[in-house]
Amino acid sequence: MIAVRRARPDDSPGIAAVHVAAWRAAYAGILNEDYLAQLSEVQLGHFYHRAILDRRDGHAVFVATASGADHPLGGGAEAQIVGFASGGRARRHGLGAGEVETLYVLDDFQERGVGRRLMRAMAAHLRAVGCGSAHAWVLAENPARYFYRHIGGRAVMTDSVLVAGRPVRQTAMLWDPIDTLLSATAPAREG
Ligand SMILES: CC(C)(COP(=O)(O)OP(=O)(O)OC[C@H]1O[C@@H](n2cnc3c(N)ncnc32)[C@H](O)[C@@H]1OP(=O)(O)O)[C@@H](O)C(=O)NCCC(=O)NCCS
Repeated sequence: MIAVRRARPDDSPGIAAVHVAAWRAAYAGILNEDYLAQLSEVQLGHFYHRAILDRRDGHAVFVATASGADHPLGGGAEAQIVGFASGGRARRHGLGAGEVETLYVLDDFQERGVGRRLMRAMAAHLRAVGCGSAHAWVLAENPARYFYRHIGGRAVMTDSVLVAGRPVRQTAMLWDPIDTLLSATAPAREG
């Protein structure tokens, strides 16, 4: 079974492990190889531990967990984190009122509706904290931009961000109003 829920502080090591695996898979050939190699689960674990506890600016972290027959090691094993998303009120004005800051799903669990469910959880949360619209930044070379487009996002801006000291192009995908994201990720479409 795959479940999506709000993250707890003790989820931080599992979230960090997904972050590292997903970044190395998704950003190979896009971001600096050395930078990806030196990503530290321990440091990221601390980062996410703080992020889960820090609820300022409507910030929230959600996890997707796999258990039972969906668990990589089979039934009986403790539920494993296979994806996560985070965000809150937008860090930058002029785009959406809310922002999905991270969205990562392990390779083996992609194309099973996990990303859609995490985006729906983020959209419902952002609307609940008063955001009438939302955006997400995606690296211009990342095929995930087609996922965002598939669930109703519109590319509205492109700029450059420094990652590991190098400029990388990124695109902002916007859902305005945020209800367009809620309807594009509605459970009936998970079929
Ligand atoms: C992008 C990502 C989160 C999508 O998650 P996912 O769990 O694979 O997506 P889902 O299974 O929920 O897909 C929902 C729909 O989007 C489609 N889809 C998924 N990835 C897609 C892509 N890259 N391009 C176009 N459509 C895509 C699915 O086919 C599905 O279509 P349907 O409505 O016909 O069923 C996932 O591929 C991922 O983690 N990628 C690597 C990390 C990354 O790039 N994250 C984004 C950082 S900004």
